[in-house]
Amino acid sequence: MNDGIKKFIPRETLDEIKELSRYKKIVVHGVGLSIGSYDGYSEEYLRLLDTLYEEINFEWHSEHLGYIMVEGKTLGTMISLPRTDETVDMISERVLKIIKRYDREFLLENIIRIVPDYDSDYSESEFMNKISSNTGCGFILDVYNLQCDEHNHGFDLHKYLSEIDISKAREIHIANGTVEDGFMLDAHCDTVMDSTIELTKQILVMKNCGVKLVNYELLDEAIPAMGEEAIADEYKRLSQIFCA
Ligand SMILES: [Fe+2]
Repeated sequence: MNDGIKKFIPRETLDEIKELSRYKKIVVHGVGLSIGSYDGYSEEYLRLLDTLYEEINFEWHSEHLGYIMVEGKTLGTMISLPRTDETVDMISERVLKIIKRYDREFLLENIIRIVPDYDSDYSESEFMNKISSNTGCGFILDVYNLQCDEHNHGFDLHKYLSEIDISKAREIHIANGTVEDGFMLDAHCDTVMDSTIELTKQILVMKNCGVKLVNYELLDEAIPAMGEEAIADEYKRLSQIFCA
């Protein structure tokens, strides 16, 4: 992020997305905004988003509710936020600025917690609901991330789902990862577990559920290990389950 190299989106990539947008709806999902950094989010990320906004008619855009930078230096991972009034105010102000800058719906996604929890004024669901009601932003529900938190910290996933304003959820993320020393990580490197699929099905039939998209997440690094055929089969399987 802060390596002194100016980032840009290659012309051929923009042209490819533009071509796709003629017959497919496009959504934008980022990892570099760092909306929760105390010293400010990434202006460079917004500059890249400006380019997409100028060139592509995307449906909505989204980022993670956390931070990856401290004092301009990248941490190499994403950290969850203390759920306090101060954080709610800081994030809400930034979300409102982003919504004003781009005439598109903006979504925030739950991330896994890899550090011990902070003293908080709000539960995870209250925190999300408060930011959403302050700003009008929507959610991504990352179902695998919720399962990681349940496994790693005894997080009450079902209570979270019963409390979250599900009408604000637009997108669900499903994925699979690894287990290191008993700790589940969101490595996005495998086919989706049956439990993740079942949970997603349960969410989709919840009253007032606003989800319009189920997104299978896979990192580039997983492609050689899984193989293209296995990945294509997984997309086919998931399409049959969720697009039928
Ligand atoms: Fe995700």
